[in-house]
Amino acid sequence: TAVIRELFKQSDKHLGKSIRVHGWVRTVRVSKSFGFIELNDGTFFANLQVVFEENLDNFAEVARLVTGSAITVTGTLVESPGAKQPFELKAESIEVVGTCAPDYPLQKKRHTFEFLRTIAHLRPRTNTFAAVFRVRSLAAFAIHKFFQERNFVYVHTPVITGSDAEGAGEMFRVTTLDFDRTPRNEAGQVDFTRDFFGRETGLTVSGQLEAETYCQAFGRVYTFGPTFRAENSHTPRHAAEFWMIEPEIAFADLQDDMRLAEDMMKYVIGYVLDNAPEEMDFFNKFVDKSLLARLANVLQSDFGHVTYTEAIDILKNAPEKFEYPVEWGADLQTEHERYLAEKHMQKPVFVTDYPKQIKAFYMRLNDDQKTVAAMDLLVPGVGEIIGGSQREERLAYLEQRMAELGLSHEDYWWYLDLRKYGGTKHAGFGLGFERLIMYLTGMGNIRDVISFPRTPKNAEF
Ligand code: 4AD
Ligand code: MG
Repeated sequence: TAVIRELFKQSDKHLGKSIRVHGWVRTVRVSKSFGFIELNDGTFFANLQVVFEENLDNFAEVARLVTGSAITVTGTLVESPGAKQPFELKAESIEVVGTCAPDYPLQKKRHTFEFLRTIAHLRPRTNTFAAVFRVRSLAAFAIHKFFQERNFVYVHTPVITGSDAEGAGEMFRVTTLDFDRTPRNEAGQVDFTRDFFGRETGLTVSGQLEAETYCQAFGRVYTFGPTFRAENSHTPRHAAEFWMIEPEIAFADLQDDMRLAEDMMKYVIGYVLDNAPEEMDFFNKFVDKSLLARLANVLQSDFGHVTYTEAIDILKNAPEKFEYPVEWGADLQTEHERYLAEKHMQKPVFVTDYPKQIKAFYMRLNDDQKTVAAMDLLVPGVGEIIGGSQREERLAYLEQRMAELGLSHEDYWWYLDLRKYGGTKHAGFGLGFERLIMYLTGMGNIRDVISFPRTPKNAEF
């Protein structure tokens, strides 16, 4: 059995040979004595043209095939007289494997992304989503390849956890549906705080703290897994469940961290451009006409660097009118981030040294005592794609910061141990995988780059 991708990539090997392919019918055109099927098997962007003639035993059945049917074709691959395709499959037999009901929603016309979200179980069959999810798969592979080639150890951190890694109170609680087994207090009310066999737990918001523990053993580690945020956000770039890549490096500072992030981003962009040229051309044509030029540019230039304080100045002097106020001490909003990356720098830019009050407890305090050694990477079209920092390795500083924020020693004692036992300076970051896919494809909505988005009103599948 051949796959269509191989036929296109190595057609000389298969021309003149008898082959068998499985796939789904995209379109059928029939005349009296012959017909054409555009066949797609999910392995490649282009369809394979199948030609069939009256001599098929089941010509009438094949002639009635509709979009969406599954078939197996045996035949010979021959050069095509038509100009549209280099070769075609001359069918000797066509087996109808699965017929397709007439109410199939994916008829040959353009559908809106909004509509396709309501049929998330069928949308990977469309060209756009086939391209998105192929790029997503390649990008995931590229990330592993990048880190593995650099001696990083891949660590699987837990999904159910007892600590809030960001200290931001955005955790989903883990509880049982079996109310009879749920612990109760003296008044007989359900006690959710002891729900996980006597402890309060939630779904992880980040694997960072656990990754830090492995970093202090392996020197260089990364995680790559699902993370969860209980935010009722209705934006094109927030989801309640998303995938995050979190490297952590020992004996390293913020500069090392940013170098790693820039190298990784360029590696993944290069890998996807090299390994999915058809998909990337498609995005450039139908989704974002400046995509390829922009990505090529990124590979050729250094990322920008500004401090948060400089960024505030830039935004205050911008000709743009922003919806949200720009003020030292306030967090940057998407509109600010996009202005900095798209208009001011016109390329990816690191913003560093944010005020400590808008960043997480674990970030290393700078000498000015007001800012922390944080970095966000902002990219055109998306805004924040990476958040990272040098970590506070000084036990006393960390304990003080945790006390200020009301984080209890009891929940983080193991994290504090790292600072007692051979602690090193270290740094890391988190790359939002869906935002990376948005950036790589030009797709404008996070709901369209994750298979089954978990956003408000999107948990049906
Ligand atoms: O900036 P964040 O919250 O940083 C952390 O979680 C750190 N613990 C990372 C680290 O240093 N190891 O999240 C990191 C990235 C963001 O830059 C963004 O790309 C993505 O994760 N992200 C989301 N993506 C989709 N939906 C959401 N609700 C997201 N929240 C964060
Ligand atoms: Mg962030």
